[in-house]
Amino acid sequence: MQVIANRAPIERVPLAEDPGFALYVHWPFCLAKCPYCDFNSHVRGERIDESRFVNAYRAEIRHRAEMAPDRIVRSIFFGGGTPSLMRPQTVQAVIDAVADAWTIADDAEVTLEANPTSVEAGRFRGYRAAGVNRLSVGVQALNDADLRALGRKHSVAEAMAALDVAASIFRRYSFDLIYARPGQTLNSWRSELAEALRRDSEHLSLYQLTIEPDTIFERLWRAGKLQMPDPDLARAFFDITQEIAEAHGMPAYEVSNHARLGAESRHNLVYWRYGEYAGVGPGAHGRLVTPAGRRAQATEKHPEMWLTQVEAEGHGLIENDVLSQEEQGDEFLLMGLRLREGVDPKRFEALSGRPLDKRQISTLAREGFVAEDEAGRLRVTPLGAPVLDSVVADLAA
Ligand SMILES: C[S@@+](CC[C@H](N)C(=O)[O-])C[C@H]1O[C@@H](n2cnc3c(N)ncnc32)[C@H](O)[C@@H]1O
Ligand code: SF4
Repeated sequence: MQVIANRAPIERVPLAEDPGFALYVHWPFCLAKCPYCDFNSHVRGERIDESRFVNAYRAEIRHRAEMAPDRIVRSIFFGGGTPSLMRPQTVQAVIDAVADAWTIADDAEVTLEANPTSVEAGRFRGYRAAGVNRLSVGVQALNDADLRALGRKHSVAEAMAALDVAASIFRRYSFDLIYARPGQTLNSWRSELAEALRRDSEHLSLYQLTIEPDTIFERLWRAGKLQMPDPDLARAFFDITQEIAEAHGMPAYEVSNHARLGAESRHNLVYWRYGEYAGVGPGAHGRLVTPAGRRAQATEKHPEMWLTQVEAEGHGLIENDVLSQEEQGDEFLLMGLRLREGVDPKRFEALSGRPLDKRQISTLAREGFVAEDEAGRLRVTPLGAPVLDSVVADLAA
């Protein structure tokens, strides 16, 4: 047998909780760039040639299916950018291409991210007909002045109307809010969050505002024109968010994601449980388990350059590296410890080829940053959650 140096063996240990195989589809366009956002999103004045995109998505899906054949797709996620700018026929064509390449599970979750303008809400029914069965709506704030400050193109009334349309068409929908915004008080967030919880959606994503590199918010913040909460206030925002959401039956199952029991986003669980996923479209990431090992994949970010590369080469990959065992162990911890359910140390051992250091765990447990349950699963405590990166660095050392 030929042994290839530096190549990690394929993981052969069955997963305790097999998250299955998922597909991420990136739509890279928005009507305007929000000043806080550093996602791979671009604004184009001209009409976008969606049929060219459909052909490129088809080619990429075929390419990934050649690398990872015979999978059962448990989740498809259309993320962006603003996928609710796609024509429903485009979404349908992508889902058809997935069905040609792999088997789609009968109970597959098919999510689309939507912005809540009235024009986009008008397309929700078309997405349902195309096969989308879960909507994730970016509401961001329940106060018009803050929506304007966030550069959003919708009002609170418009967002609420879009959620009504979503609820009438989709059994499963979620919405996003951003908190710890400049000038926001704990009391105003308390009442905003209570109002959000009264909508009674099965899932909520509650993100603390972060200042991302190369955004307008970063420039304003550096110039002293944007007042961000100090670390104590930011911590208080996080704590009351957990308390209020939990008291309403929406506990966090991940740092920023809250759901009723059983209504967790299956797609995101594939990432956090370190499952296998393909990513297609500009700037999409994937983790495919191939005969050579687990590969970290990323595509060209620039939309037109991605199209050109896919048309020439049949794929848009610019990274396609086999991960070392050490890298897999680190990624597994970084993803899995975001989850309330924590991680199974045996799976860390299977991926990284070495056990977790028991003494290191005891030290972190004594300091209150991690806890182990009777089944041996390891979790980060509320004290450890805000310093997750350094907890992972200590565990992986
Ligand atoms: C891909 S983005 C947005 C999807 C959709 N285009 C929208 O804006 O509604 C996913 C979510 O990330 C969150 N987000 C983006 N930038 C953020 C930042 N700097 N801080 C906190 N949350 C952020 C927003 O809540 C957003 O809805
Ligand atoms: S937050 Fe959403 S709409 Fe705004 S720029 Fe980012 S991806 Fe586009």
